[in-house]
Amino acid sequence: MKRAIYPGSFDPLTLGHIDMIERSSKIVDELVIGVLHNSAKNSLFSLDERVSMIEEMTKSIPNVTVGSFDGLLVDYMKEIDATIIIRGLRAVTDFEYELQIAQTNHVENPDVETVFLTTNLQYSYLSSTIVKEFASYGGDISKFVPSRFVDRIYAKYNISK
Ligand code: PNS
Repeated sequence: MKRAIYPGSFDPLTLGHIDMIERSSKIVDELVIGVLHNSAKNSLFSLDERVSMIEEMTKSIPNVTVGSFDGLLVDYMKEIDATIIIRGLRAVTDFEYELQIAQTNHVENPDVETVFLTTNLQYSYLSSTIVKEFASYGGDISKFVPSRFVDRIYAKYNISK
């Protein structure tokens, strides 16, 4: 049985992430969405909020579960018995950083393999950082995130639409 992890900050979850989750859930037996709890990083949404937003959007996919971790990804993978990391590549600019992480993780644990999926062209420009930047100025984020989260994101910036 192939258990994979799709790790990230998901602050907030975007339509690009959802596309990756849907596609990768079809090529592995079980997919765990691993939400990084990075206390040093100032996140817009708390860990609990990020986890429950992902749960809300993935509850209809039977082989997907959501978990969270703090510390090294390879350590969390041992804990949950996962051996595959799924990452999305949007553009060539992602490649160098992703290659470095993938190789480091593989050196740390040679059983760990990283599988890269190219993001859907429709979302190749999209990132949580861009969503936050747009939202903070009251820009239209309805094409970037699930519609049910739009107001929740604006609310973080005290914007009501
Ligand atoms: O949402 P992101 O920033 O694309 O996610 C990055 C993430 C969570 C995959 C990466 O930062 C990570 O795995 N962090 C946990 C710490 C770790 O294991 N670092 C090793 C990389 S050398």
